[in-house]
Amino acid sequence: MLFLQFQCSNDLKGTFKLNCKRQPEGIYDYKLFIFSQRYILLLNVYCEEKAMKRIGLVTSGGDAPGMNATIRAVTRVAYSYGLEILGFERGWEGLLTNTFRGLTPRNVGGILHLGGTILRTSRSPEFKKKESIRKAAENLALNNVDALVVVGGDGSLHGALELSKQTDALIVGIPATIDNDVFGTDETIGFDSAVNTAITEIDKIRDTANSHDRVFIVEVMGRKRGFLALTIGLTAGAETILVPEVPYSLDQIVRTIEKSAAKGKKSGIIVAAEGIGDTHKLVKEIEEKAGVEVRLSVTGYAQRGGNPTARSRLLANLFGNKAVELLMNKQGNRMVALQQGKIASIDIKEVCSNEKQLDLTLMKLAQTLAT
Ligand code: F6P
Repeated sequence: MLFLQFQCSNDLKGTFKLNCKRQPEGIYDYKLFIFSQRYILLLNVYCEEKAMKRIGLVTSGGDAPGMNATIRAVTRVAYSYGLEILGFERGWEGLLTNTFRGLTPRNVGGILHLGGTILRTSRSPEFKKKESIRKAAENLALNNVDALVVVGGDGSLHGALELSKQTDALIVGIPATIDNDVFGTDETIGFDSAVNTAITEIDKIRDTANSHDRVFIVEVMGRKRGFLALTIGLTAGAETILVPEVPYSLDQIVRTIEKSAAKGKKSGIIVAAEGIGDTHKLVKEIEEKAGVEVRLSVTGYAQRGGNPTARSRLLANLFGNKAVELLMNKQGNRMVALQQGKIASIDIKEVCSNEKQLDLTLMKLAQTLAT
C-alpha cells in the first residue's frame, strides 16, 4: 500500500491510500514541496511496511533427495517466527489449481530422512504460459500469501523469476536438484545423495566387471550437463568420464582401454552422462574397435530417490533457514546458495541468466588417479 499525505499551508491536510501493483522499492519518507503563489504544499509519500504473516512453499520439477528435509526446515523455522505456512501441491500445478495444505511443525515430522517430496511435484509446461503465471499470482493474492519459497532446479527457478514479475509476494528460491546445474551455488540439495547412490552401484558393478574382464559403461543422469557424471566418475575411480561439455573421441576411449590392458587391468568403468547421446550405440562401437566385452548399466531414476545423505540434509536445513531469514528481512527475488563453504544468496535474475561452469581440472585429476 502506498500512502500519499498532503499538508497545505492553509491548514488543509489529508491522506490518500494508493493500491499499487508493486511496492516502489526505496521510496520511504519521500518529501516533495510544491510552491505556488498562495500556498505551500507538503507531500509525504511512503510505503506501509507489510508484516510477513503467511508464506507459501512449493517443490517443483524433478524431485531430489532432501526436498522433504527442506519442507521440514522451512516450516519449522518459519513457525518459530510466528508465520503460517501453506504447502502447494504437485509443484506449479498447485498454484494454478489453488491446491494447498497447511504445514505445521507437527505434520512435517518424520520426513527428514525420506526421499521424494510429501508435497509431490510435477513438470509443468503450462507454467511457461503468461496466463498461467498470472493465475498463480492471483491465487497467491487470493490466499493472502506474502511470500513464496520455491524449491527446485533450473526450470523451477526460471518459473520463480517469471512469477516474481507478476506478484507482490516476495519470492525466494532454494536450489534442489540432483543435477547440480544451478548457477550461483556450489551445490544443490540432492546432488550428494545422487552421487552416493551411483557410486554404491558402481562399487558393485566393479565386482562383476573384474570377474568377467569386462568394460562397463555406467550411464548417469544430469540432463544436458556433466556435474553428476564428473563427481561420480571421480569418486568411483572410473577410467573414463564422458560429459556433454567435452566432445568424446572413440579412439581415445579405446586407447585408454588398451593402455589399461597392457598394464594388466582387464576391466574398466566408463561413467557417461546421459547428455552425451546414445550409450547403446557406444557399447557396440567400443566392442568392435577394442575387441572387448562391454556392458551398459543405466543408473536412472534410482538416483532421484532414497534417503538423503547427511550432506543433503545439512544443506536442506541451512538453505531452509536462510530462505526464511531472507523473507523476514523483506528480501525477495533471491536464491539461497552455497558459495565457498558459506551460506549466501544471489539474485534469481543472475541465476537465470548465467550458466554454471564445469570444473574441468577435476577431469584431469580423475584421469591421473585412474591409471
Ligand atoms: O533434473 C533431474 C533429472 O533427473 C535429470 O537428471 C533427468 O534428465 C531428468 O530429471 C528426467 O526428467 P523426468 O523426471 O521428467 O523424466
